[in-house]
Amino acid sequence: MRAELIDGKAIAATIRGEIARDVAALTARGVVPGLAVVLVGDDAASATYVGAKEKASVEAGMKGGTIRLPASTSQQELLALVERLNGDPAVHGILVQMPLPKHIDPDTVIRHIRPDKDVDGFHPENVGKLLIGHTDGFVSCTPAGVIELLVRSGVDTRGAEAVIIGRSNIVGKPMAALLVQGRAGGDATVTVCHSRTKDLAAHTRRADILIAAIGRAEMITGDMIKPGAVVIDVGMNSVPDATKAKGSRLCGDVHFASAVEVASKITPVPGGVGPMTIAMLLRNTVRAAERTLG
Ligand code: GUN
Repeated sequence: MRAELIDGKAIAATIRGEIARDVAALTARGVVPGLAVVLVGDDAASATYVGAKEKASVEAGMKGGTIRLPASTSQQELLALVERLNGDPAVHGILVQMPLPKHIDPDTVIRHIRPDKDVDGFHPENVGKLLIGHTDGFVSCTPAGVIELLVRSGVDTRGAEAVIIGRSNIVGKPMAALLVQGRAGGDATVTVCHSRTKDLAAHTRRADILIAAIGRAEMITGDMIKPGAVVIDVGMNSVPDATKAKGSRLCGDVHFASAVEVASKITPVPGGVGPMTIAMLLRNTVRAAERTLG
């Protein structure tokens, strides 16, 4: 079997078109959705992600702005900025790009963001709402994007064995909560694997839906995948490659060449989950703006 590609770029483009229409409707009612992105320091990968987020928000017709602060910014200064954005009625969504410099505690910063502006879905209030199944919070963008990819690719999650590799707060844990809940894109039987899991391959080989979110380049090989499984690769790793002008290439957590021969559907890297994360961020920002209308 050679897997069909799940084209995240195309699906994200469709969603961004839908979002642009929602933004136009809101603008006609006098509310231009505003997204404030905060970048502290000069991490190259973060700068690239932040640039993509700002560009996408402006293309959708939103008011997007990036506030760039030096790595020497104190935690107090960052919290003061968050307070200002919390109180700014033109800002509906606030995103503080992670990772932050070592002297700043990310949890303290996340807790300072108003939950109704936390379009990343990282605030404990939003995480709690997700777990309980309340739909008036915000869901972390990457797992929300994975569910959207599954639903829009016609993957039936009901009763499926879903195996997630990775237990991060940003991806693995919210992914498990979404897949287990009793609504579209849910109703799966979920296993979460991590660095202490014994016999990882025994779990991955049972998966009808396998989600790799470990951050280890090409760790999941074709022999670890059940024939016909749907494979979603959340990884974004840069590995040395002398044949490339940059001296490196981007790859996922899945060894694509062997996995594509076994799976029924698979996401490529790049062009799979990545574009969906940005689409979900825009969708959360539109929702934040809509909610100000009551
Ligand atoms: N760093 C990597 N991914 C993300 C994300 O989704 N949100 C934020 N704020 N930082 C990140």
